[in-house]
Amino acid sequence: MSTITPTQPVAPAESEIEVGGLLAEFRSAADVVSAAKLLRRQGYQNLEVYSPHPIHGIDKVLNAKGSLLPWGALAGAIIGLTGGLWMAWWMNAVDYPFIISGKPMFSFLPSLPVAFELAILLAAFAVFGGAIALGGLPRPANRLFRIPAFARATNDRFFICVDEADAKFQTEKTKTLLQDARSVRIESVPVIDSRESKLPRPFVLVAIVLSVLALIPPVLIAKARSTTSTLPRLSFISDMDHQPKFKAQTTNSLFADGRSMRPQMAGTIAQGDLRDDSAFYRGIQEQEAAGSVSGDSEGNVTFLTGTLTANGVASIKDEQPKNVPKWVTEFPVPVDESLIRRGQQRYEIFCATCHGIGGDGDGLVTLRALELEQGTWVKPTSLHAEPIREQPVGQLYNTIANGVRKMPGYASQIPVRDRWAIISYLRALQKTRTATADEVPADVLPNMRELN
Ligand code: HEC
Repeated sequence: MSTITPTQPVAPAESEIEVGGLLAEFRSAADVVSAAKLLRRQGYQNLEVYSPHPIHGIDKVLNAKGSLLPWGALAGAIIGLTGGLWMAWWMNAVDYPFIISGKPMFSFLPSLPVAFELAILLAAFAVFGGAIALGGLPRPANRLFRIPAFARATNDRFFICVDEADAKFQTEKTKTLLQDARSVRIESVPVIDSRESKLPRPFVLVAIVLSVLALIPPVLIAKARSTTSTLPRLSFISDMDHQPKFKAQTTNSLFADGRSMRPQMAGTIAQGDLRDDSAFYRGIQEQEAAGSVSGDSEGNVTFLTGTLTANGVASIKDEQPKNVPKWVTEFPVPVDESLIRRGQQRYEIFCATCHGIGGDGDGLVTLRALELEQGTWVKPTSLHAEPIREQPVGQLYNTIANGVRKMPGYASQIPVRDRWAIISYLRALQKTRTATADEVPADVLPNMRELN
């Protein structure tokens, strides 16, 4: 429906009182429609029909143009959709590319929810703003509200308003026409001073002041983001920012000695500070360990009495590549038969499943995996291979503790001493393939058969 055009105060024609138009009341929708048709046929253009409910076909009679609002909504939705997709692409693939599980930087489907939400949001904004703008709101004064009878427009009466701006308008003639069209009451529409239809001055002032005040928070935020400050930050939701705690080097009445810092518990050692006995615990030579950057790998540190050496200066050997530790070559534990027997037992529990009883890499798990032809299975290295025979014991120790490539570490299952026991057995196992006759005790030799 066409909107009411604000009337220009016109000089009263003839001696007539100033009239902004005529408002005719009707009892039924049928009456109002036929009256509107009549007026249109007479050539009236500037008509407005008011009804408590929608009247089908009235827009055709009034030749009302369709609203722009749906187009506004469509435009908002399209901008939102493309803007959302563009935003997801730009943020993920351009501004902050971040590989997550090897997924593509940008992908259409996961970006769709964002784009969809944005389309809805902008369409809603367009409708909200568009309805206000197209309706000419805010409109503080409406001349029809000065006519008490008009209140029934929302209840049970139908009205036609003929604006005096209409080319055909002539107070008396139009009035008769409306009467003939079965109008039950005709009122003249008052002319409102154009100042009245504007927002009252105080409103405008308050709105201006509020808009200026609303700029303050963004300005403060912008300032805070671009400058530095020594003050603690404001936290409106403080979470764990401020909590009672004891600060270092302060007094504290809770403990008998009045200090808030507690002395170190006997037998504990800070992570990365393990210096002692690294040959035993890590298979790495002392000196090297002191400069090594890798933290301790075992869970056994609490058995140690920590001696904290403040100097952790690295002593990188020239011939050594930077990150290869200097493995110990001697057993850090006394090797005797009982250790080797323990090692054999542990080997058969923990290693033989993959490496085989004889160490040839033919354990049951391996055989089964090969049978299943699993592409991912790596055949365990033969423990008799020359490179392994020549590996320092420290490196073998490290393999058991931390694993190597496809082989997992066994630190959580095999205690430190048992790892050395296994290595002592491993050495014995390797000897079974390489020992010469004169290395075998004389009393055992006669019992041995030669294998082909
Ligand atoms: C789950 C199967 C499995 C178990 C159990 C296992 N290993 Fe391994 N081991 C492997 C595989 C597989 C490799 C080869 C890794 C690679 O090359 O990726 C390997 C490699 C090795 C190597 C060669 C390391 C190197 O530097 O190349 C040694 C030594 C070794 N294992 C010793 C042991 C010892 C000792 C045990 C028992 C504590 C053990 N493994 C238990 C699967 C196993």
